Amino acid sequence: MDGNFICSVKIKKPLPADSYLTRLPAVRNLARQGGLAFEKPVTFLVGENGTGKSTLLEAIAIAAGFNAEGGSRNFTFSTRATHSELYRYLTVARRAHPKDGFFLRAESFYNLASNIDDLDSEPYDVPPIIKSYGGLSLHAQSHGESFLALIENRFGGEGLYLLDEPEAALSPNRLMTLLARIHDLVQKHSQFIIATHSPILMAYPGAVVYELTEDGIRAVDYRETEHYRLTRSFLEDPERMLRYLLEEHPPAD
Ligand SMILES: Nc1ncnc2c1ncn2[C@@H]1O[C@H](COP(=O)(O)OP(=O)(O)OP(=O)(O)O)[C@@H](O)[C@H]1O
Ligand SMILES: [Mg+2]
Repeated sequence: MDGNFICSVKIKKPLPADSYLTRLPAVRNLARQGGLAFEKPVTFLVGENGTGKSTLLEAIAIAAGFNAEGGSRNFTFSTRATHSELYRYLTVARRAHPKDGFFLRAESFYNLASNIDDLDSEPYDVPPIIKSYGGLSLHAQSHGESFLALIENRFGGEGLYLLDEPEAALSPNRLMTLLARIHDLVQKHSQFIIATHSPILMAYPGAVVYELTEDGIRAVDYRETEHYRLTRSFLEDPERMLRYLLEEHPPAD
């Protein structure tokens, strides 16, 4: 069996007209386009800041039974109820139930690490949770180290993994380690849906890259994304771009 546990997401009923969600490009276009298909093991959601990638990913995660702040299906902690109501308006079509799963948000990773430490400090006669995360408290490692420890130790395959900007913690070198780990887990029949700004990550072969804009959600080649084009033109000639940014557009006093 391939690992496509979630095969599509649709808006099932109109959102309240006065909600900011109605105006979010991701939500507006999802409704207008009749939904989004997830046909490959890896799907990327890319696009400008504020288009609604995290809001959509979070709503898919909650609709699929994950804790809104991140973690596996077993996590129930909540430090602040900041998640949107979008999940109530979504239909997530599933083909099968994953054996493993994780919703990883860079933003609330700290809270997740604290929650593991708190649970392990309780006097229960069970093996410490941290054992399945590599054994060392996630707080005793750097942001990138702990992030990768989680993915290398805790993600086991036949899983549904929803990641929000995993690149935030990682050096380019570790980002390539993550690419290899994603590939390993895809071989083990896993599905990934990843919101990202990283032109390195979105190069994963065979992935569907959905670019979210004001005008629509479109599957594109990763080389067509603004992320790839801008990063490439910057790195090819940084001086030219810097001249343009710093001299021709000086900051206002
Ligand atoms: N409670 C709220 N009320 C009004 N607007 C909100 C609320 N919560 C979020 N928003 C807005 O929703 C928009 C989408 O946010 P979201 O975090 O989903 O964007 P994103 O595409 O993930 O952006 P980024 O690339 O910066 O991570 C933002 O413009 C944000 O200000
Ligand atoms: Mg985001």
